[in-house]
Amino acid sequence: MAPGTEREQWGSKIGFILAAAGSAIGLGNIWKFPYVAGENGGAAFVLIYIFFVMVLGLPIMIAELVIGRHTEKDPVGAFKAIAGGTKWEFVGYLGVLTGFFILTFYNVVGGWTIGYIVKSVMGEVTAVHDTATAQRVFSEFSANPALMILYHFLFTATCMIIVVKGIRNGIERWSKVLMPLLFVILLILIGKGLSMEGGIAGLKFFLQPDFSKITMSSVISALGQSFFSLSLGMGAMITYGSYLSRQDKILHSALYIVFLDTFIAILAGLAIFPAVFAMNMSPGEGPGLIFHIIPVVFGNMSYGIVFAVLFFMLLFIAALTSAMSLLEVTVAYIIDEKGWSRRKAVCVFGTTIFILGIPAALSFGVMKNVTVFFGNNFFDFMDKLTSNYMLPVGGFFIAVCLGWKYGLENTIHELDPDTRIISLKELWAFTIKFVSPFLLLLMFIMLVKDDVAGILSGLTELLR
Ligand code: PHE
Repeated sequence: MAPGTEREQWGSKIGFILAAAGSAIGLGNIWKFPYVAGENGGAAFVLIYIFFVMVLGLPIMIAELVIGRHTEKDPVGAFKAIAGGTKWEFVGYLGVLTGFFILTFYNVVGGWTIGYIVKSVMGEVTAVHDTATAQRVFSEFSANPALMILYHFLFTATCMIIVVKGIRNGIERWSKVLMPLLFVILLILIGKGLSMEGGIAGLKFFLQPDFSKITMSSVISALGQSFFSLSLGMGAMITYGSYLSRQDKILHSALYIVFLDTFIAILAGLAIFPAVFAMNMSPGEGPGLIFHIIPVVFGNMSYGIVFAVLFFMLLFIAALTSAMSLLEVTVAYIIDEKGWSRRKAVCVFGTTIFILGIPAALSFGVMKNVTVFFGNNFFDFMDKLTSNYMLPVGGFFIAVCLGWKYGLENTIHELDPDTRIISLKELWAFTIKFVSPFLLLLMFIMLVKDDVAGILSGLTELLR
C-alpha cells in the first residue's frame, strides 16, 4: 500500500452487503443462468445448482470472507499471511489471474448491454417483431468489429471510473443506488413475462424437473455456474471481506449475499422462460438467448421502448457491479503488494484488460472461426476455462488451505461471536474441512474425464 494511506473499510453493513451482492449478482444471473439452465434441461438443472450453492457455495463464501477480514489483505497478501513462504501463495496468484481472464469476456458482454441500451433508445430494439429478425439483428451487431471494440471500451472505462474512486465513494456508493434499481426493474419484467400467452409452458420448464435430461456435463455446468454466480474461487470475496470492520457479522452477511444471488437468478429465470416458450423458441439458444428473446417481447407490447431501455439498463447495472469487483481484485493486489497508487493501478490494469478482451470482442465476427481449443472460440474457451476449471479449483485450494494448512481454530473467532446458532459454526467447519474438498475433488475428476473423452473424440474426428 502507498505509504501514509490507510486501508479503507466499508461505510456501513448494508453498503457492504449490497456491494458483495452486486459482485455476485451479475451477468451470471441474468444473462448466463437462463441459457445454461435452458441448455441443460431446465428445472432439474436448477435443483442441482441450488444443491451446489448450499453445500459448496455458502461455506466457501464464508471461508473467503473469513480469510479476507482475518488478514485484511488482497488475495495474494492473504495467502502470504496465512501460509507465507509456502507453495500455498499460488492460490492468491491463481485468483488474480482468474479475475483477469473472466474480465476479458465479461466486459465484452457488458459492452453488448450498452449497445442494446443505445439500440433501445433509438427504437431499433422494438422495431423487431419476430425471433428470426431478432437473431439477425444480434448476429449483425455482435459481428461488427468497430462497434464491439467501442462498446467493450466504454464498459471497461465506466468500470475504471468507479473503481478509481475507491471503496466507499466508488464501489459502495454506486452499489447502494444500482442494486435496488435492478430489483425493481426485474419485478416489472416478471409481471410482463407471466402475463404473456403461452408463458405457463416456460414456467413448467423452469420449475418442473425432468431428471432424464441430466448428464455429467450438466452437473459440471451447475457446479461451475454456482461458483461463477457467487463470485467464488478467485478471491473477489476475500478482497471485499478485507474491507469489513471487526463489528461486521460474516455469517449473517454471507447468508444474505447467497440468498440474494440465488433469488435474483430464479427471478431472472421467471422473467425469461415464459417469454421463450410464449414465442416458441428453443431454451437452448446459448449466449445470445436473452438478446434474441427480449427484443421480440418488447417489440410486441405497448410502451415496449420504455421496458427495453429498462431491461438493458438492468443488465448493464448487474454487469457493472460485478466487473467492479473483478477489477478490484487485481487493483487491491497491486496496491497492497506493490505499493502503487489506486489511480495508477486502475489505469494500467484497466487498459490491459481492455486490450486482452479484444479477441473475445471479435469472437462473434472476424474471429468467429478462430478456434482456440477443439471447436471453442476465444470467448467460449475463456468462459469454460474460468467457470468450470479455475473457479472450482480455486475454491478447492481455499477450503484445503483454510481447513488443513492454516487451521480453523485460528479463524473461527471471525464468525459472528454472539450467534446463538453455535452448531452453524461447527457445521461450517466440518464442511470446509471435509465436505467441500471431497466434493470438489470428485467433481474435478469427473470434469477431466468428461473433457478428455470429448478431446479424444475430437481428435479421432480430426484424424479421420
Ligand atoms: N458473479 C458474477 C456474475 O454472476 C461474476 C463474477 C465472477 C464476479 C467471479 C466476480 C468474480 O455475473
